[in-house]
Amino acid sequence: MKWLEIQQSNPLQGRIKVPGSKNSSLGLLPAACLSDEPVHLHNIPDIQDYRVICEIAEDIGLKITKNGDQITLDPRGIHSAVVSPEKASAFRASYYFIGALLAKFKKVTIGYPGGDNFGSRPIDQHIKGFERLGAKCTFFKEYYQIEAEELRGNEIYFDVITMGATMNILLAAVRAKGKTVLYNAARDPEVVDVAILLNNMGAKIRGAGTDKITIEGVDSLQGCTHSVIPDRLIAGAFLMTAGLTGGRITVEEIIPEHLHSCTTKLEEAGLTIEMGDSWVTAYIEKELQAVQVKTGMYPALGTDFQQPMTTMLTRANGNSLVVDPIFPERTNHCVQLNRMGANIAIHDGSFTVMGNRTLTGNWVHATDVRAGISLILAGLVAKGTTYITGVEHIERGYADVVQAFGSLGARIKMCEDPAMTEIPQMAADSSAV
Ligand code: EPU
Repeated sequence: MKWLEIQQSNPLQGRIKVPGSKNSSLGLLPAACLSDEPVHLHNIPDIQDYRVICEIAEDIGLKITKNGDQITLDPRGIHSAVVSPEKASAFRASYYFIGALLAKFKKVTIGYPGGDNFGSRPIDQHIKGFERLGAKCTFFKEYYQIEAEELRGNEIYFDVITMGATMNILLAAVRAKGKTVLYNAARDPEVVDVAILLNNMGAKIRGAGTDKITIEGVDSLQGCTHSVIPDRLIAGAFLMTAGLTGGRITVEEIIPEHLHSCTTKLEEAGLTIEMGDSWVTAYIEKELQAVQVKTGMYPALGTDFQQPMTTMLTRANGNSLVVDPIFPERTNHCVQLNRMGANIAIHDGSFTVMGNRTLTGNWVHATDVRAGISLILAGLVAKGTTYITGVEHIERGYADVVQAFGSLGARIKMCEDPAMTEIPQMAADSSAV
């Protein structure tokens, strides 16, 4: 078993360079399949999801080579549009291979998406989008098939704002025949990043970053070089770390506008925020204050900020109400934080974080990337030692979490004992208060 061990640490201080965005990269890498020539990407984070994509790439004949910071994807040898159920279910965004392969191969066979475990995550809007482009979708127990002799542009209204479906249908529409218009599209920077790459490859996309995206289909796409945007979600979690530990942290090489909803909420909670063209500094000079948190799709406060923010609010003055309509069941971290002495009352569709709590180290389990980060943050301020299992989830989003937090002064290390197969019972039991 592998786990992270964290000792109560001094306030975290320093500057940290933010890596490339995970969620952008997961769209950009498959997007290269649409090209007829090699595509070069910079700043792709070396995370577990990337490694699974490399395995899928090998299976289908997409050649990926790495040279320092540059990854080259050569789609000229792609010979298959079959993605194994096992690999597809290793992460959520495997479905982007449908959008990326459908126009060229006419039929994509793929396993169901996996990834973070926080309740229902439907793909009906993806399916609706593919069908509106003329595809037929057939579902089997272990996998599904999307096929279309020819993709034809159409008008598509998404019933909910979804980043995943917006990106997926954008990918498919780029080589469809005629014009596609996406209404109620997601405006996330990651969608814009993928659209910029596609336009550099020769696509004709207008309106990415607004809720109406227009795509004129093209017959072929060329190679290009593109640099992934910085990971706003990682940046936001470090700023919260400053607020929680009473330190001062500067996140560098970021796009501050991508963090506006987050930095504004942190100011509401009492943090001082300073920003320049490509950096943001956060520190706290007064007491942390309770805030009301409601997540939404970009530019509202993203659901991925909710979990680390919850940890921060356990130390705030007062009680905070958190509502996450995007993923209402994303509360596993609350259960784990309660095992460390937090007092979080989970209601139907919301939860209340009681402030002024003293946390105590315990064995806790991370069920997804952001839950893992929220537990790391808790470990930094908890008395004694915190042990976090489910490390594989954290590694899906962070290339080297120990190095990143350690460079700011966190007392954190990775431990592994192959002989240990389950969480020590006594520690778990003694915490069940
Ligand atoms: N939704 C539907 N039908 C669909 C698709 C989505 O009802 O067909 C709903 C979802 O249930 C949710 C909302 O639409 O309520 C938004 O979901 P979205 O499709 O935007 O989420 P996603 O694409 O599956 C991505 C990120 C998540 C992030 C969400 C929301 C990736 C790989 N994942 O997921 O990131 O929380 O957008 O911003 O890009 C993470 O990085 O830790 C993470 C979970």
